Amino acid sequence: MTAFKTLDDADVSGKRVLVRVDLNVPVANGEVTDATRIERVAPTILELSKKGAKVILLAHFGRPKDGPTPEFSLKPIAQAVSKVIDHSVQFAEDSIGDKAVEAVAKLRNGDILLLENTRFHKGEEKNDQAYVKALAALGDIYVNDAFSAAHRAHASTEGLARLLPAYAGRTMEAELQALEKGLGNPKRPVVAIVGGAKVSSKLDLLGNLVQKVDALVIGGGMANTFLAAQGVNVGKSLCEHDLAATAREIMAKANAANCTIILPVDAIVAWHFEANAPFHAYGLDAIPDDGMILDVGPQSIERIKGAIDDASTLVWNGPLGAFELHPFDHATVAAARHVAERTKAGQLVSVAGGGDTVAALNHAGVADDFTYVSTAGGAFLEWMEGKPLPGVDVLKKR
Ligand code: 3PG
Ligand code: MG
Repeated sequence: MTAFKTLDDADVSGKRVLVRVDLNVPVANGEVTDATRIERVAPTILELSKKGAKVILLAHFGRPKDGPTPEFSLKPIAQAVSKVIDHSVQFAEDSIGDKAVEAVAKLRNGDILLLENTRFHKGEEKNDQAYVKALAALGDIYVNDAFSAAHRAHASTEGLARLLPAYAGRTMEAELQALEKGLGNPKRPVVAIVGGAKVSSKLDLLGNLVQKVDALVIGGGMANTFLAAQGVNVGKSLCEHDLAATAREIMAKANAANCTIILPVDAIVAWHFEANAPFHAYGLDAIPDDGMILDVGPQSIERIKGAIDDASTLVWNGPLGAFELHPFDHATVAAARHVAERTKAGQLVSVAGGGDTVAALNHAGVADDFTYVSTAGGAFLEWMEGKPLPGVDVLKKR
């Protein structure tokens, strides 16, 4: 962590501090339905405000393609932030230009201002110098607290760190420390649990993990592709049959790297993809032709628990079954609770991330019992894939 400057190194009193946060939160009917990301950045915002900084928040919201559009405005989010941090939050209707300049000029020490969606300017995603300079002119110092947007080399996540003295915010710091414990410099043995629907979306992830971890548990729809590649009849299950050769290559790579791949040994099969559909557990040699695997079976759960017991470190991305449909959430919940127990007992460092994964752990009621649960989706995946994260790397270099 010494490679990063943190808020401990910054003298912020009276300074205009541009803080990149991730306020890309789910909203329904104008209301924020999950404020987790706001809660995560609250400590950094409040610390800066208490230290007398003029806090200027930068964020994107959604993926607007045509400039300013009301549905992608951050204005309602300013109120949501204010509620979480219990402090007033001003709002400027543009991230650069007169409106932004005027709003910043009025700030007193300790004030907090949110600027409109950075993605309303094309220069944001292009990391265009003119836009970066216009943003930089609003501040004296840059703080990045948005790990979950750090896979983007955008003006507000990467460009600004080149123009202003740059620091990692408290959440960024915690996230990087947790990730370091998870895969960077983990205590061995390390087990990874990877689930989700498709192998095709996680090829790079699997390829990287088999070289880094001691055991890899594969569940979810993607396990069917691996099973089918070994000649198991998976009936009507979700399965990428065209990726059979790829699945075998990943297994060979794992074998060469001494990584044990743990596939399901039995399956919960249903005939309808819906909650409470009738189901039955089968061995892999008896999956019915007209059935669909919706979860891993009871023997597989025991096997996965055993792998968790053997591990000192665990990284997790993706559910083991169709967890959004009860009772096909059973294996995911059972494994998550087991990880939580081992973690609480001080026997395991557990790091999880990715959109579905966080939802699954919340559903299991154990998100708070893991060592760290990242709110990052794409950024967490790219980290697990071993890819460089531009928003993190640029902080390191300073
Ligand atoms: C996210 O929601 O994963 C981050 O905020 C990044 O958003 P993006 O995928 O639109 O860049
Ligand atoms: Mg995303």
